[in-house]
Amino acid sequence: MANGCYNLIPNKDFKIRKVIKSLETSPIRKIANTAIGKKGIIPLYFGETDIPTPSFISQAMKDALDQGYTFYSVNQGIPALVEIISKYTSSLHKKNIAPSRIMVTSAGMNALMIASEAIIDPNDKIICITPVWPNFMRCIEIMGGEVIEIPLIYSNSNNTWKLNIEEIRKNIKDVKAIYINSPNNPTGWMINTQEQMEILELCRMNKTWIISDEVYERIVYDRNVAPSFLELTDENDLLMVVNSFSKSWAMTGWRLGWIIVPESLLNIFEKLNEFNVASPSSPAQYAGITAINDGEDFLKTMINNLRNSRELTINSLSNFSRVILPFPEAAFYAYFKVKDVHHSEKFCFEVLSSTGVGLAPGTSFGTGGNSWIRICYAKSPDLLNQAFEKLKPVLS
Ligand SMILES: Cc1ncc(COP(=O)(O)O)c(C=O)c1O
Repeated sequence: MANGCYNLIPNKDFKIRKVIKSLETSPIRKIANTAIGKKGIIPLYFGETDIPTPSFISQAMKDALDQGYTFYSVNQGIPALVEIISKYTSSLHKKNIAPSRIMVTSAGMNALMIASEAIIDPNDKIICITPVWPNFMRCIEIMGGEVIEIPLIYSNSNNTWKLNIEEIRKNIKDVKAIYINSPNNPTGWMINTQEQMEILELCRMNKTWIISDEVYERIVYDRNVAPSFLELTDENDLLMVVNSFSKSWAMTGWRLGWIIVPESLLNIFEKLNEFNVASPSSPAQYAGITAINDGEDFLKTMINNLRNSRELTINSLSNFSRVILPFPEAAFYAYFKVKDVHHSEKFCFEVLSSTGVGLAPGTSFGTGGNSWIRICYAKSPDLLNQAFEKLKPVLS
């Protein structure tokens, strides 16, 4: 066992697909596997809050079970949930998003895999704006496609990230799709409407799919919701928008999300649901209705807490002389560069062993992350203060 990960690929030829054999283990997972179960670890590596799902949502799941909602649902998702997602999305983005464009999925990850299955043929090239949570890049590889990374540009002068439109323009002709995650994990970067319009124009001209991962759309601090491609497009554009209950309502373990697709393709996506999971968990879907209907107060409180945690994180990290932290505008991560670190995975293992704080190596999020580290600051101020106290000697 290396770094807590079993090495199960033996010399014997089990006829596993080459691409599957060569899938990378996520460096985040390697750190986590080493840390989990050890005493006194402060885990800042995973992308989730440390608060449990609010009890009114859990109660709705219990009620659904008590009422016997324990059977398969239709592939699209239970109609009442599809209807409420349609109302919620239409009202957030001031654009009618019909129920006939929505399919409920087993969370954002499953939606991304289904998106890949729907459009990626072997050798297709897909642009991924990086740094980014790596799982969609692995979906592309599983399907036999090729990832073209186009990194965000870090600007020293205003300490923010910017989309490299020129590079996208150069590559767009050869690609099937572009994957954009905004608000972004790990940087906190958020695309603006002007940039979305430029991307949309390029994609319309070249008949390129946009896969917009908007799972952090509500984790924003100066507005109610992040800009969405839904606002600029119509039901015939080559657009898929991936969303999730995980982040907005603290439901990571529930595995519930949705995807919005062109209306005429819904039935293809329903088939893919059928051949992946048939339908997401029925009682979880009933709880999803309650999350959307009654979850706004919870969200407001969570965002206020996250705002405080973000401030604490920025203040603490900016006191460390080795750290350069671009402003994390949205989502709940701080992605920072550490001077004189050239192998972030090795550095994270060293930090874990010397301080007990679990960090996520920048190499998890695409090439170019060797000097970079991500922390998830969706934790209590007390825990964050303890973590920063421990990190002081290694980051100063
Ligand atoms: C950018 C991004 N997209 C999608 C997901 C998937 O989340 P889930 O499968 O829990 O909905 C995550 C989870 O961390 C994420 O960071």
